[in-house]
Amino acid sequence: MKLPTLLATFLPSFTLSSILPRQDPEFAGYLISTFSDPIPAVQWHLSTSNSPSSFTFLNNATPILTSTVGTGGVRDIFLTTDGDRKRWFLLATDLDINAEGFSWDEVTRRGSRGLVVWESGDLGGWEGPRLVTVEDPTAGMAWAPSAVWDADTQQFFVFWSSRHYAEDDVEHVGNATLDRIRFATTTDFVSFSEPRDYLALEDTPLIDQEFVNLGRPGHWARFLKNETVNQVYQETTTEGLFSSEWERVKGYVRPESPREGTVVFGDNAEEGLWHLWVDDYTEYVPYQTRDVLGGGWMESGYEGFPRGLKHGCVTPLTAEEVEVVRGRYG
Ligand SMILES: *[C@@H]1O[C@H](CO)[C@@H](O)[C@H](O)[C@H]1NC(C)=O
Ligand SMILES: *[C@@H]1O[C@H](CO)[C@@H](O)[C@H](O)[C@H]1NC(C)=O
Repeated sequence: MKLPTLLATFLPSFTLSSILPRQDPEFAGYLISTFSDPIPAVQWHLSTSNSPSSFTFLNNATPILTSTVGTGGVRDIFLTTDGDRKRWFLLATDLDINAEGFSWDEVTRRGSRGLVVWESGDLGGWEGPRLVTVEDPTAGMAWAPSAVWDADTQQFFVFWSSRHYAEDDVEHVGNATLDRIRFATTTDFVSFSEPRDYLALEDTPLIDQEFVNLGRPGHWARFLKNETVNQVYQETTTEGLFSSEWERVKGYVRPESPREGTVVFGDNAEEGLWHLWVDDYTEYVPYQTRDVLGGGWMESGYEGFPRGLKHGCVTPLTAEEVEVVRGRYG
C-alpha cells in the first residue's frame, strides 16, 4: 500500500505497511501452516470455505515438506510473502525434540542458530530446504521466526527469539541472558543483516512474537509470551513496528492457564472481526474479538476444528492461490 506523500512525511521512517488490506474481496480462504509434536514437518490445512472454522488437512494428512537440513525437524512454521505475492517463503525453527539424546538444556546452549527456509513462486511447489545461520556465535539458538514485508524499503524484517552467552564462554556452559526478541532484514532469505535486539526485557524472558497490522499504516498489535508465567500478552501501537510507544492490554489474553505460539489474523469477510489462536500446550484453541485494541478475546467454540495444531501461521489466500494449493496438495 503506497502512502499519500503528505501523510508519509508525518510518519516515522520505519512505518510498515500491510501486504493487502484485510477484508479484501479477493481473499477466498485461509491456509494454516503448522507441524505436530510427533511429526515435526510442514503440514497444511486449507479452509473448506471463506471461514476459519473448518479445514481440510491437505496432502492426505501428511507433511507437504520435511526438513533434510540441520536437525531434520522443523517447528514454529511461518509462511510469508512479498508485496506482489510472487515470492513465498516458509520459515521454521530447526529443532527436533524427538531426537536421540534430546535435552532442552543442550538445545538452548548449543542449538541451531539457523532458520530452515523453503521458497516458492506460487505455493504450488517448493525449493529447498536451506539452513541459513541468522544468529551470532554467542547465541544458544534461534527459535520461533516470523517476518513482515516492508513495502517502503522492499525488504523483510525477520524476528526470532534467542538467548546469549558471554563472548569468552565459547562452549556456552555459563549463564545466559534471558530469551529476547531479535531481528534482521533480508530481501531473499539467503543473506541477512547483522542480527540485533528488537525487544529485550530486564526481568522477563520473551518468545513467540507475532505481529498483525490493524489495517492502517503503522497500526500494529504484537503478541508475546512471557516465559516466566507462560502466558501471552498483547500490545498495540500506531507508530510502526519500531515504535517505542507500545500500549499493553492489561493482563494476559487467557490468564487461566498456560498458552503460547500465537497466531493472529483479521477475518477475510467481516470487517472488525479478529482471530487469535493460542496453543494450550497440546493444540491451538481459537478465540476471536470485535475489539482488537481492547483485547477481550472470547473462545470461538468451532465444532470440528482441527486437533493437534501447533505453533504455525494462518495466511489469507486469494481464489487463484486457493486453486493452486488445492490443485497441488488437495
Ligand atoms: C549463574 O547464576 C546462578 C544463579 O543465579 C549464580 O548462582 C551463579 O553464580 C551464576 N554463575 C555465573 C558464572 O555467573
Ligand atoms: C512476566 O511475569 C512475571 C511474573 O508474574 C512478572 O514479574 C513480569 O513483570 C511479567 N512480564 C511481562 C512483560 O508481562
